[in-house]
Amino acid sequence: MRPFCLILIITFFCCNYASAQSPRRIENFNGNWEFMLGDDSLAKQPAFNDSQWRRLDLPHDWSIEGSFDEKNPTTQGEGGLPAGIGWYRKTFKVLSTSKNKNIFIDFDGVYRNSEVWINGHYLGKRPNGYISFSYDLTPYLNFGNKDNDIAVKVDNSDQPNSRWYSGSGIYRNVWLTTINKTCFTKWGTFVTTPQITNDQAIIHINTTIKPADKGLSLKITIYNEKDEMVASDLSSIKDTGDTTAIAAYDLTIKNPQLWSTDHPYLYKISLQIIQDSKVLDNITVNAGIRSFEFDAQKGFSLNGVHTKIKGVCMHHDLGALGAAVNTRAIERQLQILKDMGCNAIRTSHNPPAPEFLDLCDKMGFLVMDEAFDMWAKKKTKHDYHENWAQWHKRDLEDQILRDRNHPSVFIWSIGNEIREQFDSTGISIARELVKIVKNIDNTRPVTSALSESDPHKNFIYQSGALDLVGLNYHQEVYADFSKNYPGQKFIATETMSALETRGFYDTPTDTTRHWPQSSKIPFKQGNPEFAITAYDNVAAYWGSTHEETWKIIKKYDFLSGLFIWTGFDYIGEPTPYPWPARSSYFGIVDLAGFPKDVYYMYQSEWTNKPVLHLLPHWNWNAGQLVDVWAYYSQADEVELFLNGRSLGVKTKQGDDLHVNWKVKFEPGTLKIVSRKNGKIILTEEEHTAGLPAKIELLADRKSISADGKDLSFITVKVLDGNGNIVPDADNLVDFRITGPVQIAGTDNGSQISIESFKTNHRKAFHGMCLLIAQAKRSEGTAIVYAQAKGLQPASLTLNVK
Ligand code: GAL
Repeated sequence: MRPFCLILIITFFCCNYASAQSPRRIENFNGNWEFMLGDDSLAKQPAFNDSQWRRLDLPHDWSIEGSFDEKNPTTQGEGGLPAGIGWYRKTFKVLSTSKNKNIFIDFDGVYRNSEVWINGHYLGKRPNGYISFSYDLTPYLNFGNKDNDIAVKVDNSDQPNSRWYSGSGIYRNVWLTTINKTCFTKWGTFVTTPQITNDQAIIHINTTIKPADKGLSLKITIYNEKDEMVASDLSSIKDTGDTTAIAAYDLTIKNPQLWSTDHPYLYKISLQIIQDSKVLDNITVNAGIRSFEFDAQKGFSLNGVHTKIKGVCMHHDLGALGAAVNTRAIERQLQILKDMGCNAIRTSHNPPAPEFLDLCDKMGFLVMDEAFDMWAKKKTKHDYHENWAQWHKRDLEDQILRDRNHPSVFIWSIGNEIREQFDSTGISIARELVKIVKNIDNTRPVTSALSESDPHKNFIYQSGALDLVGLNYHQEVYADFSKNYPGQKFIATETMSALETRGFYDTPTDTTRHWPQSSKIPFKQGNPEFAITAYDNVAAYWGSTHEETWKIIKKYDFLSGLFIWTGFDYIGEPTPYPWPARSSYFGIVDLAGFPKDVYYMYQSEWTNKPVLHLLPHWNWNAGQLVDVWAYYSQADEVELFLNGRSLGVKTKQGDDLHVNWKVKFEPGTLKIVSRKNGKIILTEEEHTAGLPAKIELLADRKSISADGKDLSFITVKVLDGNGNIVPDADNLVDFRITGPVQIAGTDNGSQISIESFKTNHRKAFHGMCLLIAQAKRSEGTAIVYAQAKGLQPASLTLNVK
């Protein structure tokens, strides 16, 4: 139950520890673990001396703390960071008043092959690095003053086992749940909305209670966002004599507020087990009332409104923070994507952190929740194919059970570019997996991201088990989809793989380059900087530019939408460059969270706000011919001026997504205005910058919580004496902080920097870098100082409260 009621219960528990009457106690179990990088089989023993180990708080990713090295067995594909084996130990006490309770440890995700011991008893192993799992500690616990020792071995040493950066360790949250013997079973509650009209919504609640007992009743109360009760029910539970009781109820909400990506309205459903007027257990489920439909002709609709799925694929790393889950860091990524107009995320290619789904529910994103990147056939030597036979059923079931109450989740994906699509084993496995999903949740369509676009050659498609045909790339066949896949519903599960480096520009811009050109020709193009131009005209040979595929998706209603590869750059898979390239070039946003230019193309297409964006910067050689591009929306025309002289008015023609000029460079000001009905809507300027003179610091939030987790993302800009950003500045910036804040990471978005993310300095990259400042657990004022040789320093104050 915990993932659904997390926020509510944790708040209650933290604020009211002493008086907490809640029969279900969920404690954050992240604090004060001892960690050792390396292996010691004796560490599972309770008496083991770990006094020399490092004390830390979870979530923790040891790979991100390591050094980049081409020779690391993770390979360049995983970013070249170290993996290996690590151990975590924690000593804790359990109140003697908990003696008659059940106590579980819940892991949201451990990468990978975790094994857990409590007081020397082996609890089990979980190979899958992305799945949530629990162990019942009850039979092995000491109560009162006696210590308990928990030991976790994490083995990520068999490499390579991933095609992208995975991280290593207990990189998601850990919880200790204390409940009565009579309780709701884990993930045993399922809320659906079988009927939704303007006047009313029927909320169907199916729940499982353990053990079935005499005289139990179930109280259900539904609250709106103002915490007003909108429906309730109290019914007795039939005692069937079984160990579990399944109860199903329908409640009606009058005039429901619907959940949508623009209006993510959430109701709270509280469930209580009551016996003799005593509450034995309680859980809370966030519920969104929404309906959606995929149609072979009309595409996708949400609550009856035709909606294009404007999605991006995201891996789980958080840039300089690695894989270690941080709710604010995820929220920042989602805010940046929301501002672009993105309304959907594909969790490529694995189950996400629970906090990610909570945020998508709250912020209004649709989620394609994906299970696997491989089945029985491998993609890398030691990946999950080794665990497939034993674990796939359990892992898939647990994913669906855990995530099925999130209104954001609207598609299940049973796999990405699975090798079995090419042979007949794809038929039986696809059928088996779809059955596993449907047995637990038949309210959402199941797809698989297919790379073989010929329906006759694709065995997963041939299985007939998919509700939605998910195609990766092959934009050239989209227009004929209805002909090739009669009666089928379409989603572009992965598209583009366009490549860019923020702030880097080269020519020509009017032809598309494929880097690499094909699987057969070694990559010989490229440039000494290992950069890729940020004009949208380079893509991997299997993909396209952003404009090419978006134009097609936009044109046809039956194309329900797309998931672009990718929203953000991620660590690993630095196609097309060799080492020291260590992170990807695919993002619309770079690894540090700074948008590349094409971000504004999407913003101009996907949002309702007027957009005007000019590229490139205005520092070139005298007389050089420069391609100037502009993205704009909500205007009839744009006009470009160089040092006050008009270079002409332009308007997008046909399906154009940008306008462009060729301009002979002269230093000064390049200015663009957009106009509607003759009235100026927006103005943008690029100034020729002089030499770097000073540093500017801009915090996304100046006030953060003193919770040991909260973050302020501080953008660092190198400016000339007139305040213009210097587009080629690469000054080394040193950071120093006083007060209750520490440096969680630094980055600059460069795909080839092999400097550690955990330093207190960072070179600017195209005039910018990022400092991630993390609150400690004490309140106060922190000052962030930034200095660089020859530049005027800067400082900024953060309030930690
Ligand atoms: C796809 C694959 C993704 C990523 C991408 C890079 O084929 O599904 O995981 O590797 O290529 O272009």
